[in-house]
Amino acid sequence: MFDLHGRSVVVTGGARGIGAAVARTLVKSGAGVVVADILERDGTTIAADLGPQAVFRRLDVTDEDEWRRVLDDAEATFGPLAVLVNNAGIVDFGGVESESPAQFRHVLDVNLVGAWLGMYLAAPRLRAAGDGVIVNVSSTAGLIGYSGIAGYVASKWGLRGLTKAAALELGNANVRVCSVHPGPIRTPMTAGMDPSVAAGQPLPRFGEPEEVAAMIGFVISEATFSTGSEFVLDGGATAGASLVMPS
Ligand SMILES: NC(=O)c1ccc[n+]([C@@H]2O[C@H](COP(=O)([O-])OP(=O)(O)OC[C@H]3O[C@@H](n4cnc5c(N)ncnc54)[C@H](O)[C@@H]3O)[C@@H](O)[C@H]2O)c1
Repeated sequence: MFDLHGRSVVVTGGARGIGAAVARTLVKSGAGVVVADILERDGTTIAADLGPQAVFRRLDVTDEDEWRRVLDDAEATFGPLAVLVNNAGIVDFGGVESESPAQFRHVLDVNLVGAWLGMYLAAPRLRAAGDGVIVNVSSTAGLIGYSGIAGYVASKWGLRGLTKAAALELGNANVRVCSVHPGPIRTPMTAGMDPSVAAGQPLPRFGEPEEVAAMIGFVISEATFSTGSEFVLDGGATAGASLVMPS
């Protein structure tokens, strides 16, 4: 079991949804958790609710200087960095022909470049600490394609690939890097989504943020021989297609 006591954890996009559930789970594991987000009011509220083992820090994941400040601050507040959860993400609707170049670039900038910046700046700290875990929150959109969210799909496949590249480079430092691939989860991101999105799944429902947090907690604390690996929780959505047999 990976011991998080006396160590710091940074959860991006921690102010709500999956990130807030992850922060809650990791506080229980004994870590000091930095809830890092652009949503200052929501983030401050969540951190206050979690007690002295959590603080909110403003972080726009696309901003390298803010990343440096947050990582410095995490280590000054709670001790050497142990875990980075790259969870911040956005979705923007638009297909290959309809998403504007600016929209496409922005989604890539937040979901992929933002996560890479975190890894780029956190990896030397984890190397110095002698161990650590990076969890990248991808999606089933990083395992299969979806129409109508071209930039999102590209960003989540990119994050899955980047996870493997980082795992190969950081294994010798005892730093594990894994990706997590949720299907539809009930969060503000999916609030406007038709519930029928989940109807064709073997488990025909949306997942809960706490279910993703439990998986991420497992990857961090228990999956000590896994790196470069994909952890899928999607109600079976990517298991395959059902054949309709002739009667
Ligand atoms: N909800 C789902 O169905 C689902 C499924 C698969 C993957 N995911 C992924 O899970 C992650 C969390 O999603 P969620 O459903 O909780 O969404 P959410 O919209 O509820 O939360 C995302 C958080 O990221 C923050 N954020 C956005 N841009 C940021 C930036 N530039 N810098 C810092 N923080 C930023 C937001 O402020 C927000 O707090 C995302 O990466 C998302 O792509 C979600």
